[in-house]
Amino acid sequence: MKDPIAYSRAQIALHWIIVVLMLGQYLLHGGIEAAWGARMDGSLPNEPFPNPHAIVGIIIFLLAIWRIALRLRVGAPALPEKEPAALKAVAKLTHLAFYVLLVGMPISGALAWVLGLELPANAHGVAAKVMLALIVLHVAGALFQQFVLKTGLMERMSPKQMMQKSGS
Ligand code: HEM
Ligand code: HEM
Repeated sequence: MKDPIAYSRAQIALHWIIVVLMLGQYLLHGGIEAAWGARMDGSLPNEPFPNPHAIVGIIIFLLAIWRIALRLRVGAPALPEKEPAALKAVAKLTHLAFYVLLVGMPISGALAWVLGLELPANAHGVAAKVMLALIVLHVAGALFQQFVLKTGLMERMSPKQMMQKSGS
């Protein structure tokens, strides 16, 4: 793994594509929840069928795998020097938890949907809440860095960076 001075174009693009798809998953899960409820109470056969939430979730899974592979291959820029050690630790843990959940959520969702099992569905529901709490923490951290610590952190992940450089 290298120690780059910036995120690559692909890393920045994947970050924002995943953010948009995740927003969709949180805003539009009513359909799969209704279908899931009907499968569980027996008003629909307990069998999987193509559903937009499941399809977008699988796309997120594939993009997350690509993103993790890139992270392992090209690394990430060091956290800002000005950032207090405790915040650095929280940031690193949050990023790790994101990668785990970006892979774990689609797997738990797929296990529930394909096999018709309640346990992974419950895990999926809990993971959805943990993910949401981490997103709030992550955005608060990014804004704190940008406007209070003034580390210029937002520029590192800015799509403008993509226009200015080449990379994997
Ligand atoms: C990262 C990708 C995903 C995200 C962020 C996500 C998010 C969510 C959210 C927020 C809910 C509502 C949970 C609740 O209010 O309790 C939900 C429910 C559900 N999702 Fe996903 N999901 C993802 C991937 C998938 C995939 C790939 C599948 C299936 C192939 C799936 C199947 C389900 C099912 C069956 C439910 C209803 C059961 C339940 O409430 O746990 N999800 N999902
Ligand atoms: C679904 C929502 C989000 C997820 C899953 C997510 C995930 C991540 C992950 C995993 C990283 C670490 C990249 C690495 O070093 O490997 C990261 C970095 C970053 N994210 Fe997000 N993010 C989300 C939303 C946002 C939003 C809404 C903002 C803007 C306010 C944002 C701003 C940033 C910034 C500035 C960085 C760079 C941090 C650094 O260089 O240390 N993210 N994001």
